[in-house]
Amino acid sequence: LFTGGADFLKGVVAMDGLPPADRIEVCFAGRSNVGKSTLINALTGRKGLARASNTPGRTQEINFFTLGDNHYLVDLPGYGFAEAPLPVVQRWQELLRTYLAGRATLRRAFVLIDARHGVKKADEEIMTLLDQSAVTFQAVLTKADKVKEKDRARILDQVRERLSKHPAAFPEMVLTSSEKGIGIDTLRAIIATLP
Ligand code: GTP
Ligand code: MG
Repeated sequence: LFTGGADFLKGVVAMDGLPPADRIEVCFAGRSNVGKSTLINALTGRKGLARASNTPGRTQEINFFTLGDNHYLVDLPGYGFAEAPLPVVQRWQELLRTYLAGRATLRRAFVLIDARHGVKKADEEIMTLLDQSAVTFQAVLTKADKVKEKDRARILDQVRERLSKHPAAFPEMVLTSSEKGIGIDTLRAIIATLP
């Protein structure tokens, strides 16, 4: 699907640090600990590429990765990290807002949602921000391996219902498990075929 390997390019803390907008770009947003970095590792097939950790809020920069010769994968800082001081949170929100609104090559955002918990308040906030920024987004349910079969339909229904309220949301969602490799090929195919 992608010609060439995958690599870490750079971590960005301010708009003037962004790499040139010369590739198709997708970004990954989601609450701290939802599995953004782990998903990027799974998509690229490189386990240690995006740092995944058990410590929430560890990814404090907008991290750019190259995938093949034509794509950037962008790991956004986790939101809903209540322990961060307010000025830090506000600075990140401002950077995020500016990035989302102004990045011409950003084709799609993936909003990661823990498949055990469904859509939370912080997820609503990022989805509203994406609506306002006119960035098409698609929900990716993570940690599917941890969902009990009996809970699955109810959670999928809740997410579907919430997505229907957001004009920038894609109706189809992707159920994934980075641990078990579920949905990873589907997501790779979605990224590879973005117009
Ligand atoms: P921040 O960078 O803090 O925003 O977190 P993150 O969204 O990047 O989460 P990260 O990828 O670091 O994963 C958090 C924890 O969830 C780690 O312990 C992962 O091993 C675990 N995890 C991620 N994906 C899966 C999955 O598909 N299944 C299971 N069971 N655990 C997962
Ligand atoms: Mg991370």
